[in-house]
Amino acid sequence: NNPPWPAYRGYHEYSFAHATMQSRLPTILGKAIEDTIRTLNGQYSQERITDLVQCIDRMGDLMTDLSGNAKLRPILDDDEADVALWNKEIAKFFQGKDFMNAPWLFAEAYKYRRLHECFSISKFWKDYDVFYRQKCDTFSRSADAVFELSTRFAKPFSLSANFTPEEKLESERLMFLELTQVCLWGNSTDLSLLINMTEEQIKSLQSTGGDHLAATEKNILGNDLNRLWDHVKTLRERTGGRVDFVLDNAGFELYCDCVYADFLIQSGLATQIRFHGKRYPWFVSDVTKQDWEWLPNIMVYGQLFPNASDAELETLHRLGTRWKQYEKEGKWVYEQHPFWCTGYTFWDLHNEAPDLFLHLSRSDLVIFKGDLNHRKLTYDCAAPASTPFDVAIGPMSNSAGAPVVVSLRTIKSDVVVGLGPDGDKVAEELDKSEPGWKISGKYAVVLLSEGRPG
Ligand code: F6P
Ligand code: MG
Repeated sequence: NNPPWPAYRGYHEYSFAHATMQSRLPTILGKAIEDTIRTLNGQYSQERITDLVQCIDRMGDLMTDLSGNAKLRPILDDDEADVALWNKEIAKFFQGKDFMNAPWLFAEAYKYRRLHECFSISKFWKDYDVFYRQKCDTFSRSADAVFELSTRFAKPFSLSANFTPEEKLESERLMFLELTQVCLWGNSTDLSLLINMTEEQIKSLQSTGGDHLAATEKNILGNDLNRLWDHVKTLRERTGGRVDFVLDNAGFELYCDCVYADFLIQSGLATQIRFHGKRYPWFVSDVTKQDWEWLPNIMVYGQLFPNASDAELETLHRLGTRWKQYEKEGKWVYEQHPFWCTGYTFWDLHNEAPDLFLHLSRSDLVIFKGDLNHRKLTYDCAAPASTPFDVAIGPMSNSAGAPVVVSLRTIKSDVVVGLGPDGDKVAEELDKSEPGWKISGKYAVVLLSEGRPG
């Protein structure tokens, strides 16, 4: 049940797998160690401090394994709900494999699982997030784009009472297309790539204005935005109108996801949104439950933006209050299935997490955000760029019960599919004219699969 193309691996020097396994992951781990040392210097009891020293020692061991390309050992039983899934996969497929010759996707996920283990077996630091400071800091430096959106969207969405039904639908369509792009490009600021970005660079990645969006649509190389609208406009007629977001990054991206989800609720296109996050820190910036709760709290009560005007802060406050209310009313629901923090690709979702597959199959639309989810959907293998998205995602498209799926992803790694019949030529030309195009986040795909009724 695998695709016919080879999965990327760390020793493939031509791919981003190599740079990631060789240097990006050790850098990320080094920063995590620095963060924990900062915490170690805080005012804690001796018991807590010595417990944290042991976490740091374990991170040191992980660094030795990673830089020495050690064999992948089983995960220690730390009572996490995913241990069995991890060790089954290691035993079945990766016995004797090391960080470089195991598939990149698996080896990279394994590193984040081992990092979690450094803390999960401690007494006091089980929930410590080595990436929290970075997530918080980048969001605080995203003020311009944050207020641009809050100023526009704090006011409840309403359409002129004089509109004909056609005009009403047309305004909804335009708003939908704009906000889908806001949600899409919100993915370009993921922290695993943005280490040491200046405020100016963050700004240019996050500008959300209308003209900018028209220009960036040209960079959506596989573009199913119109097909997506054709599907979404039918949701109102369905019983429920449930949309699921398989989230990617916390902070600014999550904020954009919420602005989008807010519009889906207010317009009546959806009646319920289910957000799927991670159970612990993952790929640096991914959303955990703490990040999910942090965002509206900081919007309503926090003081993260010292230079903002009272009027701006008021808009943020209104948005955050509305979002909290959605959660209270059950219109927004946060979930964290253990499967999302494993090394499995989504080709295995129906087999390894049948309960989750069944749950998703009841949704009217499942939106997968970001690069990692896209790699998992497509098995992170060397499929040609002309491969249709349905084919590339295999069982997530053709298993009985597969839901309608859309991937909103800025391209930050090797696998690129869904570029249409001329896709191989498009990719070849970009390889020549813009060698880093697959990792820059400048290009994107919006790809839809209609799924298969159960
Ligand atoms: O480390 C590589 C990677 O998995 C890439 O896929 C991407 O550059 C990044 O990490 C995560 O991106 P995202 O947050 O969009 O999933
Ligand atoms: Mg991410």
